[in-house]
Amino acid sequence: MKSTGGDDDAKRRAGEHAAGMVEDGTVVGLGTGSTTAYAIRALGRAVDAGLDVVGVPTSYQSGDLAREVDVPVRTLDDVSGVDLAIDGADQVAGFDCIKGGGAAHAREKLVASAADRLVIVVDPSKEADRLDRSVPIELLPDARRPVSAALRDLGGEPELREAERKDGPVVTENANLVIDCDFGSIEDPAGLAADLSAIPGVVEHGLFVGLIDEVVVGTATGVETRR
Ligand code: A5P
Repeated sequence: MKSTGGDDDAKRRAGEHAAGMVEDGTVVGLGTGSTTAYAIRALGRAVDAGLDVVGVPTSYQSGDLAREVDVPVRTLDDVSGVDLAIDGADQVAGFDCIKGGGAAHAREKLVASAADRLVIVVDPSKEADRLDRSVPIELLPDARRPVSAALRDLGGEPELREAERKDGPVVTENANLVIDCDFGSIEDPAGLAADLSAIPGVVEHGLFVGLIDEVVVGTATGVETRR
């Protein structure tokens, strides 16, 4: 699994706390990344102990892990809705966040949007007063040049994400490319999110605005929650 840094104990506390929110007989969105992995493992233990739950994975990673720990998995086509989605983030400011460090943000946003509640689980290194990390943008392969030009028009500095153990760019699970775009400090996340969504060729961007219901931050001794 790729590393996004941060404290593993804090991630574990956040993930396990969120898993404890899952109620019997519900459908849960399974986010991607190292923090959510702790939630999925905890759900597996709860299933072993008798919890009746169905998981909707947001990536190969979360689906493979869910199957490994015996959490039943379904697609969005198989369920009438998602009760609770649990997912990590690359940066959180208030109730907005940036996701897509693992290039899974398109399915993550799809599942989060289908959920009645979205709980974001992070360690303290992800918290910020204002979002300022590069925003991951999934785009159609043919759209690289026009999307890059549109991103520069918005004041961004786009950079194609290169693969680490493959020559050439990252290709997503949806067979698309990813551009990481630096906008500096983002003063208006909702405005930028709307501008990014309006660019032809953009499949999905990693700004999550107006979706989060609760943020669980793992600490040195427990968790802090914001809702
Ligand atoms: C995946 O594309 C991302 O949105 C992840 O949810 C995010 O990178 C969080 O990962 P960690 O929990 O490993 O930091």
